[in-house]
Amino acid sequence: MRQDFEWARPDGCPDGLPLYRLMKGDCQRLAMQISCMQDIASHGCFSLGMIARFEPVLDDKGEWMYPRLFWETGVLGQVLYLEAHAVGISATGIGCYFDDASKMIQYFQKTIHEVLGLKDLEFQSLYHFTVGAPVVDRRIMSLPAYPGPGIDA
Ligand SMILES: Cc1cc2nc3c(=O)[nH]c(=O)nc-3n(C[C@H](O)[C@H](O)[C@H](O)COP(=O)(O)O)c2cc1C
Repeated sequence: MRQDFEWARPDGCPDGLPLYRLMKGDCQRLAMQISCMQDIASHGCFSLGMIARFEPVLDDKGEWMYPRLFWETGVLGQVLYLEAHAVGISATGIGCYFDDASKMIQYFQKTIHEVLGLKDLEFQSLYHFTVGAPVVDRRIMSLPAYPGPGIDA
C-alpha cells in the first residue's frame, strides 16, 4: 500500500479492534467518485469498501473461493444493514464502484487501487457500503418485511 499512510491507532479506539487511520482529510468527494459518483457514498455518516485478499486466495483454494468471498462481504453488509437499523438510521449496499484501473476510466476517475496504492490483484475491493439517514425513494415500492398471506404485492 502507499508509503505515506500513517497506520496510526485513532484516539479512543477499543483494545482488540485492529482499526488504523491511514490518512486524515475530507474524503467526501473521493468517496463519491470511487463509488461511481453516487452521492449515497458521500452524504451519509460513513461509507466503506471491503478489501479482500484476492488472487492468492483463488490460486490457493480454487475458483469456488470467488463466490465465497462475495458471500463473506455480503454477510458483513447484512450485519451493517441490521446494526444501522437497530440504532435508528439506515444503510445501503453499493455494488457500483471503481476497483482497479481500466483503460476507459483511468484518465478521469480515481480507483480504489490508486487511492490505496495497490499494484496487482493481491487485494481487491469486493463490496462497498454506506450508512446514514434514509432518503425515501418514491420510485421504489416498499412493503412490510413479513406482510402475511392476506397482503398481495
Ligand atoms: C449487493 C448490493 C449492491 C447494491 N448496490 C447499489 C448501488 O451501487 N447503488 C444504489 O443506489 N443502491 C445499491 N443497492 C441497494 C439496492 O438498489 C436496493 O435499494 C436495496 O437492495 C433495497 O431494495 P430491495 O428491498 O428491493 O432489495 C445495492 C444492494 C445490494 C444488496
